[in-house]
Amino acid sequence: MVTATRTRGAPPLLNWSEDHRIEFARGVVSARHQLARLPLFDDAALAAMLDRHDRANLDVCTMGRDPAERSSWRDVPVCRHLPGHHLVEAIRQTRLWVHARHALDTDSELKPVFAAMMEQLRHLNPGWAPLRAYGGVVIASPGAQVFLHSDISETMMFQVRGSQQVFVYPPRDPWVSDRALEGVLLGESGEDLPYDPSWDAEAAGISMERGSFAAWPLHAPHRISFGSELSVTLVLEVVTQESLLKNAVLHANGLMRRAGFNPKNANTSGFGAAVKLAISRAAKSTSAIRNRRTGSEAPDMSLASTLEHA
Ligand SMILES: [Fe+2]
Repeated sequence: MVTATRTRGAPPLLNWSEDHRIEFARGVVSARHQLARLPLFDDAALAAMLDRHDRANLDVCTMGRDPAERSSWRDVPVCRHLPGHHLVEAIRQTRLWVHARHALDTDSELKPVFAAMMEQLRHLNPGWAPLRAYGGVVIASPGAQVFLHSDISETMMFQVRGSQQVFVYPPRDPWVSDRALEGVLLGESGEDLPYDPSWDAEAAGISMERGSFAAWPLHAPHRISFGSELSVTLVLEVVTQESLLKNAVLHANGLMRRAGFNPKNANTSGFGAAVKLAISRAAKSTSAIRNRRTGSEAPDMSLASTLEHA
């Protein structure tokens, strides 16, 4: 795991070294950032952001205390339309995980921060070429947790208040299987994964506090345990050519498996990968046509949707 080292002449938003550049998007990376110094994340600013935010893009959930009991995760829709200052107080007083999805890329106050974050990451990592990026703000109660899951897009976090312990596991069996990812990409299952406490011996533990940055490889399962204060985290989700191709291959493998075939690998190079990309894209087109014909307004959670928006 690459850890933060202050380098002479480091850029202003993120302390970055050659080791970080080499490991970024390949391994578990942690560093220090300067965003927590912005006056955008105190209670009043968060409440105002929530009041501006489209509540259709707001998740409010609660959960139990056992990291193995993922069935305790619950939506709390009654809190979704609370005034911002009431919601911030509810987060402080209860056990909530609130995700203002797209707040970074849509909010008038946060969009400049999002643009600066992306510009900085591009500048620090030549060759890293996001096709599309989103950003949200997660506000979590003291002692809350997020169960083990695997994100479909590349994810990175900037902690701006409070603390969280992130446990990152290798992106392969038994922590996450290709079949589990195929199910997610086909929209058949959520991103949550079964968790075995004995796996912690293999996890990279990242202690994030105000000013911490962390990133990990695509699909690496992770779970989060929040500290004793209200936590605020900026979360970037990025689609790159590499993640798009990997997801397309897994999506095609899932389609082939359900058609009675037995794809043997999820390689992203060679003729086989090109064929699978074509299969995935064809499925996307078919799905889009079918949705237009039926006038379906049901959200398409499959890779087809991801590709369409990429
Ligand atoms: Fe995640």
